Amino acid sequence: MVRGGAEVKISVIGSGNVGATSALFLAEKELGEIVLVDIVKGLPQGKALDMMQAAPLKRMDTNIIGSNDYGDTANSDIVVVTAGLVRKPGMSRLDLLKENAKIVRSVIREVVKHSPEAKILMVTNPLDVMTYLALKVSDFQRERVSGMGGVLDSARFRYFLAKELGVSVKNTSALVIGVHGEAMLPLPGHSTVNGNPITEMMSRERIDKLIEQTRSAGAEIVSLLKTGSAYFTPAASIAEMVEAVVNDKKAVMPCSVYLQGEYGLSDICLGTAVKLGKKGVEEVIELELTSEEKDFLNKSATQLKENLKNLDSYLNDQV
Ligand code: LAC
Repeated sequence: MVRGGAEVKISVIGSGNVGATSALFLAEKELGEIVLVDIVKGLPQGKALDMMQAAPLKRMDTNIIGSNDYGDTANSDIVVVTAGLVRKPGMSRLDLLKENAKIVRSVIREVVKHSPEAKILMVTNPLDVMTYLALKVSDFQRERVSGMGGVLDSARFRYFLAKELGVSVKNTSALVIGVHGEAMLPLPGHSTVNGNPITEMMSRERIDKLIEQTRSAGAEIVSLLKTGSAYFTPAASIAEMVEAVVNDKKAVMPCSVYLQGEYGLSDICLGTAVKLGKKGVEEVIELELTSEEKDFLNKSATQLKENLKNLDSYLNDQV
């Protein structure tokens, strides 16, 4: 795919379920060349070949390369970082944070070295913490570092909403902001069916049930899968965000982004609506919130700031 005279290059770091499925969904959109990277020898190469052999049947005019070498990602336009561990039974959230901080720091250093102009899309959990780490380690402007959480959570909210009301998912829109995880903040006042806010169509109890379903959707899938977490919707969310950037769509969607005073918060990454285009996060949109929603966001931001303190030793290279 040639855009502005040069081939668009998208690298996906980590070729587990999320990384590989994202590569496939991106290939289906024919957005550019895809480089799938993993430290496990043979894994990204095998998955890339398998996907490419599906290309005639899926009618995908695209190229997916598997590699263990960051040299192959050189001059990427976008780098999607999915590398990291998923929480295993017995592993605390803090353990996960520390393990993934090490992985993400080394990945980001490679990304900066080989693709100094790239936009970085973070996917590794804990999402907002890793987005913050990526921003600090890369030293990129906030326009070029975002995190995928809100698009996934909003898709889940739309699914539950459509099911509850017996309408097509296509007639729904939803907005979930805040911290990705149980402290997410679904916004019913910004969620609609055929353009009508759901707050005018449903009782508070019914809405609360949908919010609860959305908050526990990730955990429900983990408990069913037992050995991993969701990947189809995360991958579809990644593809949607990358497409917005590559095709300069100026699409408004919720992403984790570095706040500089929005909602009275700063030096923190969390989800809010942003405008995605070829420069990355082209605008950070501060939404109207109810006082209850503001309190909730402030509380979760305070908790997140506590968590960010665990990154200090990684940012100072003490670990
Ligand atoms: C989820 C986790 C994996 O929401 O972030 O499914």
